[in-house]
Amino acid sequence: MTYLDNAATTFPKADTVLEAMVSTYRKIGVSPGRGSYDLAIEAEDLVQTVRRKVAAFFGGTDPNRVIFTSNATDALNIAIQGIAGRGDHVVSTHLEHNSVLRPLHHLCRKGLLEYDLVPFDGNGYISPDDIAVLFRANTRLVVVCHAANVLGTIQPIAEIGRICAERGVPLLVDAAQSAGLALYDRVDLYCAQDLTNHIGLMTITVKGIDPQDVGAILDADFDIQVRAGLHCAPLVHQHMGTLDMAGTVRLSPGHSTTSHDIEVTIKAVQTIATHNRMGNA
Ligand SMILES: Cc1ncc(COP(=O)(O)O)c(C=O)c1O
Repeated sequence: MTYLDNAATTFPKADTVLEAMVSTYRKIGVSPGRGSYDLAIEAEDLVQTVRRKVAAFFGGTDPNRVIFTSNATDALNIAIQGIAGRGDHVVSTHLEHNSVLRPLHHLCRKGLLEYDLVPFDGNGYISPDDIAVLFRANTRLVVVCHAANVLGTIQPIAEIGRICAERGVPLLVDAAQSAGLALYDRVDLYCAQDLTNHIGLMTITVKGIDPQDVGAILDADFDIQVRAGLHCAPLVHQHMGTLDMAGTVRLSPGHSTTSHDIEVTIKAVQTIATHNRMGNA
């Protein structure tokens, strides 16, 4: 089995993660900070320790500003709806996941706010200058994904942050695809393009075959698990011209992916493409 859908969720989970979860639930699986008995206090201490570690990891100064949510969609909704209010203007990008696009669209349709979306260039990057020109007097929030979930491109978040700070506008960074990755060495994808500002994720299409079919063949014939479709980012496909063909195939390696896995996958995709070409000849 070659699992290449780590951009959706990591699999297999690292043993250290599984062991930590099981032992925590086994030993102190009680409500943290609710009761005054020892176990509840111990559970609360653990949550505070994690808060401190998360704050340090992201370079934050105040652990009490770290909140845990059930997923990234939840966090993004809380941030967007908590910061942007009636009459505000928001700037975001065409690279965003639906968890950003849908709340913005919903709030705009209700007449509560307006938003503009910055397009990306041919390589999948946002220009900070394009964000700057969209600022209005009532711009209250900028939302940008750090690493794009379809293209894998890492956006110039420091420069965007500088522009926002100059204007006193909060920047909400969707780090669903990037948080933690900085610690890992990038897997060599044997890809010709410049991977300097790129996470370990690539998106492909095989000419003449529906991406869903490519995904199904990879699974059935080669035991390779990938994600096919729009990846909850429809505007990216609109720009790439892959909307009509129902999206792309996304290959996302993880901590357990080996060079062999990648070689096997490249060969499998080549085989699918060659058979298709011969079939169409
Ligand atoms: C860039 C990006 N943002 C947000 C999300 C939503 O994450 P979650 O499934 O944790 O709600 C995803 C999910 O894949 C994503 O790739």
